[in-house]
Amino acid sequence: MSSTELGCLYGVGVGPGDPELLTLKAVRVLKASPIVFTPQAAGSKDSLALAVARNYIDESKQRLIFAEFVMGGTSDDVWSEAAERIAGYLLNGEDVAFLTQGDPLLYGSFMYVMVKVQAAHPHIPIEVVPGVTSITASASRAKTPLVSHAERLAVLPAMYGIDDLREVLERNDTVVLMKVNRKAMRAVSRMEADGGLSRCVFVRRATTPRERVEFSLRDVRPEDADYFSMLILSGKKKTNIDGQDGKVIDG
Ligand SMILES: C[S@@+](CC[C@H](N)C(=O)[O-])C[C@H]1O[C@@H](n2cnc3c(N)ncnc32)[C@H](O)[C@@H]1O
Repeated sequence: MSSTELGCLYGVGVGPGDPELLTLKAVRVLKASPIVFTPQAAGSKDSLALAVARNYIDESKQRLIFAEFVMGGTSDDVWSEAAERIAGYLLNGEDVAFLTQGDPLLYGSFMYVMVKVQAAHPHIPIEVVPGVTSITASASRAKTPLVSHAERLAVLPAMYGIDDLREVLERNDTVVLMKVNRKAMRAVSRMEADGGLSRCVFVRRATTPRERVEFSLRDVRPEDADYFSMLILSGKKKTNIDGQDGKVIDG
């Protein structure tokens, strides 16, 4: 507990799925927090964050609380309720760890709760414990470089539309598609078949026992992708002014 007698709100990144990919700090904070909040998609029993964190939580001593949200929805009421409930524990002097898969500030639900608690109780201490992101974990498992030197990286949440994918591929060296759904899988498969991609890496559940890594979508059915899937893409290779591959200087 902090010296102000208020609890501290910790946004804890638990990494991509491998329990060895939590930071030492995440483990310490998890073990020491009397209250652990975990977001859970409505109707799903599959919380990757909790599966990872369970290794470090003692439910006989710590209280585990689920915040249920609708996948792809805005869920603002859910986060307002969660923030109010969390603030109750914090004002009572109890530390709260809020689990986030990967990193808390990369498409993580912790940020919704964080801004609400910050706004309502600016004096409450908040700490963010960064986590290994699914982007770096997926690239590591596929052993595919993300970007080097002056290259550009773009990250798109496919679930919300990829109408501009061709343009984004042209403007960037590597494009990471997160929140991949079947529609996006079909669109990218077509693009690959048409020769529009020089790299098309599919990674599902990187660093977990159900991991799958493929270097083409030819053998991947859209239904093989689940929510914890991503694509690492590069557009057609361009040749620079010296005739060397890779760096783009006016196609
Ligand atoms: C809501 S975002 C959370 C991202 C997370 N905060 C992070 O730092 O990686 C969920 C998306 O992350 C990606 N993702 C999360 N875990 C993954 C994993 N183990 N392997 C591949 N992609 C993953 C998927 O694209 C999924 O749809």
